[in-house]
Amino acid sequence: MIEVKEVSLRYRDGTLALNNINLTVGDNELVYITGPSGSGKTSLLKLIIGMEYPTSGTVKVMGQEISEEKSDELRSLRKKIGPVFQELKLVPGRSAMENVMMGIRFLDFSGQEIRRNAADALEKVGLSHKADSMVENLSWGEAQRVSIARAIARKPRLILADEPTGNLDHDNAVNILNILASFKQKDTSVIIATHATHLIENQKNVTIVRMNQGSISVEKRGGKE
Ligand SMILES: Nc1ncnc2c1ncn2[C@@H]1O[C@H](COP(=O)(O)OP(=O)(O)OP(=O)(O)O)[C@@H](O)[C@H]1O
Ligand SMILES: [Mg+2]
Repeated sequence: MIEVKEVSLRYRDGTLALNNINLTVGDNELVYITGPSGSGKTSLLKLIIGMEYPTSGTVKVMGQEISEEKSDELRSLRKKIGPVFQELKLVPGRSAMENVMMGIRFLDFSGQEIRRNAADALEKVGLSHKADSMVENLSWGEAQRVSIARAIARKPRLILADEPTGNLDHDNAVNILNILASFKQKDTSVIIATHATHLIENQKNVTIVRMNQGSISVEKRGGKE
C-alpha cells in the first residue's frame, strides 16, 4: 500500500520535518503514528496524500509515486484515500448528510450511490439520527464522526486521520479510535496520527510508528486483536 524509502522533507523555510525515514505499510494494516508536537506526524501524512513532495527519497502509495511531476495521477490517487482532518473542515449551514454527500460528489459515484454511501457511512458511525441536523448544532464528537463518515463514504482503500481524538474525553476518544480501526479490511489500511499513546499501549495486531524530531522507529505488533 505504502512504501517510503529514505525520505527527507525540508520545508521552504529550511525546517527539516522528516529526516531520512523508511516505512512500509501493507494492504491490511492499522498504523498509529505517535510522537511529540512538531515531530513530523502531519508532515508524513501530507506526503502520503500528496499534499507535500519529498525533498529526497521516494514515496509510493498504491503503486503511484508522489512527486510534483505526477500531479495528474495524484488526483486519481486521492480518490482512493479518505482523509480525516484535525480541523474537520465541515461546511456550516449544511446538514450532516449534506456534508457527507458533498465530500463524495466529485468521485465516480452516481447520484443514487452518493445518497446511499452517505447514509451507510452515517449509520456506521452511529449518526443516522443526526443526518438532518446542521453540523454547527452537533457536539464536537458528533462532528468528528461526520468527518469520519465523509471519509469512509468515499469507499477508500486508505483512511488517514490526523489527531482525530483532539478534544474528546477518554470514552469518546476510545470510541473514535475503535470506529476508525474497524475500517481496516482485506485491502483497506488505516493510519491514525495521535497524541493519545495511553489508548494504544495494549493494542495488538497494529503497527506503531514513533516519531521524534523527524526520525521514526517502527514497531510491528502481532497477536490476536
Ligand atoms: N508548512 C510548513 N513550513 C515550514 N515548517 C513547517 C510547515 N509545516 C510544519 N512545519 C514544521 O515541521 C515540523 C514538523 O511539523 P508537523 O506538523 O509535521 O508535526 P506534528 O508531529 O504533526 O505536530 P503536532 O503534534 O503539533 O500536530 C515542525 O517543526 C513544524 O514547525
Ligand atoms: Mg500534526
